[in-house]
Amino acid sequence: MTERDTHRVIPLMDHRPRGLVVPTAAFHPDTRLTASGLMADTRGRALRDLRISVTDRCNFRCNYCMPKEIFDKDYAYLKHTDLLTFEEITRMARVFVAHGVEKIRLTGGEPLLRKNLEQLIEQLAELRTPTGKPLDITLTTNGSLLARKAQSLKDAGLQRVTVSLDGLDDAVFRSMNDVDFPVADVLDGIEAARAAGLGPIKINMVVKRGTNEQEILPMARHFKGSGIVLRFIEYMDVGATNGWRMNEVMPSAEVVQLIKSELPLVQLEPSNLGETAERWGYADALGQHDKAAGEIGVISSVTQAFCGDCNRARLSTEGQLYLCLFAEKGYDLRSLIRGQASDADLQSAVAHIWQGRSDNYSEQRSSMPADQGAPVKRVEMSYIGG
Ligand code: GTP
Ligand code: 5AD
Ligand code: SF4
Ligand code: SF4
Repeated sequence: MTERDTHRVIPLMDHRPRGLVVPTAAFHPDTRLTASGLMADTRGRALRDLRISVTDRCNFRCNYCMPKEIFDKDYAYLKHTDLLTFEEITRMARVFVAHGVEKIRLTGGEPLLRKNLEQLIEQLAELRTPTGKPLDITLTTNGSLLARKAQSLKDAGLQRVTVSLDGLDDAVFRSMNDVDFPVADVLDGIEAARAAGLGPIKINMVVKRGTNEQEILPMARHFKGSGIVLRFIEYMDVGATNGWRMNEVMPSAEVVQLIKSELPLVQLEPSNLGETAERWGYADALGQHDKAAGEIGVISSVTQAFCGDCNRARLSTEGQLYLCLFAEKGYDLRSLIRGQASDADLQSAVAHIWQGRSDNYSEQRSSMPADQGAPVKRVEMSYIGG
């Protein structure tokens, strides 16, 4: 045996599952469905929110999302030809809008890494709901390229942005993004977004116990009264690579208590059905919501599942339709769109898929042993977006 033979070649694991096939009933003349804007799944949930991932790449390596050990230089990202083109994305979006989608969120990976993203935004901004309304078009970004791009995004028709920011302390932030990216540049990006009118701006902070909980109060103080809505997100067992452990989850109830200990809060009504965040407003001396001080949100998918009215669908970078953030597989719409499918075929396909949907992963995990996520190869969040 040579020395070479003794070095076993470990094959690269591809975490991307193959697509599910669209039910054939979608194309049968007797069972075709058209868009009514009023579809419901098996749990009576409407489809309102479409999240479109435009790249599976990111320039950050947040440990809870794209740990460096897995997402290294050998990681098999999608090839350019695998990505949906802007025309393909817009065509799919039009089908979803006919079915009732009112909000489109562009995600990644880091969506601002996708070249000429403004062109896609321009195309999406032209779409109208069945009642003639423009869409709510937003984007989730790590903010690293925002200072440069905020104005062109706004000009293209983007309405608002959500920026991920896990702390204000530079050392904590650099270590969480794991590429030594300075917090000041993200704060500049947020200012540029504000100056460009990309509001209401939201900030998403993933809280990991033992990593950045000490940043909760400084973040709350910093954004209070700024008009920017800060949201605290429970660290989730999403994907299959982040080594999630329950003892690293800080329940939102604790986050709220901690903030209340210094800055009084009052609970607010949800602003939309199916909202991910529970809203809390800063209180005035009379215990009433002080609108000038603003509000925070907590997103508690681990301790308080919100599947009951989940109206979200996710279109992956390569055109697979995922019905849940925690799904193992998505439906392969790209093969339809690159085949002979007409728009009516696509509409029928989406209707059949959504009407058969029963996903409620977060609710199910509430009844699993504390440290156990589902024993499956769940799709990575960097691949379908947050
Ligand atoms: P707004 O319309 O701006 O309120 O956005 P949103 O709350 O719908 O979307 P955003 O992408 O900002 O969601 C914030 C975070 O909530 C995500 O980064 C995820 O961590 C989590 N999240 C979003 N959607 C879901 C979902 O469907 N299920 C679960 N379990 N978590 C979700
Ligand atoms: N838990 C919670 N949120 C996550 N995100 C990514 N991975 C996780 C996780 N494991 C969310 C964050 C980030 C967005 C891009 O995805 O909100 O802001
Ligand atoms: Fe990139 Fe966002 Fe994932 Fe961090 S959480 S690695 S910024 S996609
Ligand atoms: Fe929706 Fe799945 Fe999230 Fe539940 S876990 S809210 S079904 S995406």
